[in-house]
Amino acid sequence: MSPEDLKALVRSIPDFPKPGILFRDVTTLISDGPGFAAAVAMLSQRVEAAGAEAIAGIEARGFIFGAAVAAHCGVGFIPVRKPGKLPVPVLAIDYALEYGTDTLEIDPGAIAQGSRIVLMDDLIATGGTAMAALELIRRAGGVVEEALFLVDLPELGGTSRLREAGVSVEALLDFPGH
Ligand code: PRP
Ligand code: MG
Repeated sequence: MSPEDLKALVRSIPDFPKPGILFRDVTTLISDGPGFAAAVAMLSQRVEAAGAEAIAGIEARGFIFGAAVAAHCGVGFIPVRKPGKLPVPVLAIDYALEYGTDTLEIDPGAIAQGSRIVLMDDLIATGGTAMAALELIRRAGGVVEEALFLVDLPELGGTSRLREAGVSVEALLDFPGH
């Protein structure tokens, strides 16, 4: 299966979650067995090339791909969580959304000092979510040199922000023009 075949499995929904937004929906890709398996295999190749010791995935959709890839590669999975879910003292960061703010949290004990961690999410748009997760992992002592996404919306600038922060970024599927 080629990246173009995978792209065809991503459903596009106009005007969700609000008018003017074209929502790229990966649920149609993950419900396709061969498509999901191909995406996990392609993402795993990149994780193996990066020599990662663990994958950090961002709740919620980053868990779907991050956990599958971690199991495929035989490395650990670190959940970067929405607030109030972890049962231990956390590191937390607030980040800006288009309207308002949100928070991500991590268990600092889940990260071995100096370990090489690949940051993963299903999609990068403005990069606000990924930049917040990057900051949390670095504060916890992890080394993030690679970030990996299924989908990039390049015009929204997220990959550029991560690269400026010293992270090498790869995405399997680009949707230029958003
Ligand atoms: C979506 C997507 C990314 C983020 C990308 O998550 O899964 O995590 O937005 O946007 P950004 O690059 O502009 O920050 P969202 O929190 O909307 O939903 P989810 O909990 O279903 O993953
Ligand atoms: Mg998300």
